[in-house]
Amino acid sequence: MELNLLTLCYLIASVTFILGLKMLSNPVSARRGNLVAAFGMTVAIFATIFLYEDNGEKLHNYVWIFGGLIIGTIAGTLAAKKVKMTAMPEMVSLFNGMGGACAALISAAEFYHIYELHKDSPATAFAELATVGHYITIVAGAIIGTISYTGSIIAWGKLNGRVKDYSFKGQHIVNMIVLVLVIVAAVWAYQSTLGNILVPFMLIGFFALIYGVLFVMPIGGADMPVVISLLNSFTGVAAACGGFLYDNKAMLTGGILVGAAGTLLTILMCKAMNRSLTNVLIGSFGGGNKTTAVEGAAGPQGNYKEISLADAAMVMAYANRVMIVPGYGLAVAQAQHTCHELEKILEEKGVEVQYAIHPVAGRMPGHMNVLLAEADVSYDKLLEMETANDVFKTTDVVLILGANDVVNPAAKNDAQSPIYGMPILEVEQAKTVIVNKRSMKPGYAGIENDLFFQPKTSMLFGDAKKVLQDLCTEIKAV
Ligand code: TAP
Repeated sequence: MELNLLTLCYLIASVTFILGLKMLSNPVSARRGNLVAAFGMTVAIFATIFLYEDNGEKLHNYVWIFGGLIIGTIAGTLAAKKVKMTAMPEMVSLFNGMGGACAALISAAEFYHIYELHKDSPATAFAELATVGHYITIVAGAIIGTISYTGSIIAWGKLNGRVKDYSFKGQHIVNMIVLVLVIVAAVWAYQSTLGNILVPFMLIGFFALIYGVLFVMPIGGADMPVVISLLNSFTGVAAACGGFLYDNKAMLTGGILVGAAGTLLTILMCKAMNRSLTNVLIGSFGGGNKTTAVEGAAGPQGNYKEISLADAAMVMAYANRVMIVPGYGLAVAQAQHTCHELEKILEEKGVEVQYAIHPVAGRMPGHMNVLLAEADVSYDKLLEMETANDVFKTTDVVLILGANDVVNPAAKNDAQSPIYGMPILEVEQAKTVIVNKRSMKPGYAGIENDLFFQPKTSMLFGDAKKVLQDLCTEIKAV
């Protein structure tokens, strides 16, 4: 009876994960989707704690379990409450790394479980105690989870600027060697006797840790979105291995969903950057033999012109169509509400306002959608890159708010540029381009932007929130 109840709880949890994921695909239902999936996860956790039985025995170490739950809940809640919206991508990366570490620890625990049961007969080969399938699941969870853990920690450091891109000559070969060593240690562990299995098993973890660091270290700049979603899928696959090991359906479904969603997102991100995954991993923008971002930037590119607030307000107020291009700077300034305010004021004056969304604008997948949804900007107004690129031709004014790399024409025109080949928002097709940022500093990829020096472009310097507030006042007065 209890087993059935447990299965039913896992079924409920699995269904909520699927529903939650579906709801997450639309900003209107995303928050509810998150809650629905969180409810399912809570059901799965408590069902496991109270209903799971191993050989007729229930779990008994409740002090450890609830101690861990309480510490985790407090740490997670405080971190999520305290984190600034702009630091969200870093936190997601860090949490992803924790997921990878958990999955790796589950594998290590399962391995140790088998070892403990039989360690009194040290001459027994591990291969006699675990089938190849079982062993591959243990070892895959340990390897993928560990790589995801160290890779995500490095990605976290890169997103908050503490870790710089780093690569050295021949790094790809070293990476391959380390990966081969992981596999060699895995085969060695399987063929070892229990008396000397701990060393090769430790080596699996050690080489996987190093591989995670080496694999993410050289990748940087505009390629980070691809790595982040790839690490996400790794964590999902590692968790699914844990689900297999413990025959835990909820964990298996959750892991597979994360793994599949992460893989699809990786494909989408690669498409958004117009690069193959191999090219991202081996020919990284941020390092390797390529020119690094700042070195690759052309020197000073001539003069730029500035526009006053009053003139910018006038140009927009008399336009038929204004397209807003939000970027990371809008999130930094937390100017999404003021941006929505500007949209409403312009619309009252009969101007059609839309938003052009680049898939990798900001610092996490869907960053701009989430940001604008937070300010209740209507979803119909958000145009995907391809559509926006068609609409620019008939747009009077493009207002760029804290975006840089995603509108950099070097991606189309400069074969030496580290972002060459990445599809961009072709804002220069519009009649007038107004760029709001605080200075002439480059964006995430660290390269200059020729758009700022083009005759159509005018710079409107200042913090996005302050500039938008002033624009609202000026436009009302027009
Ligand atoms: P960026 O190229 O990073 O440019 C943002 C611009 O915002 C900067 O040039 C900055 O210039 C300006 N800015 C910063 N704070 C501002 C403020 N308070 N007010 C006004 N402007 C401000 O942003 P993007 O165009 O959105 O491109 C995203 C980049 O991040 C791409 O290279 C992408 O590959 C990378 N990336 C994306 C992701 C995901 S998944 N989306 C993840 C990791 C990396 P000033 O300093 O002069 O103001």
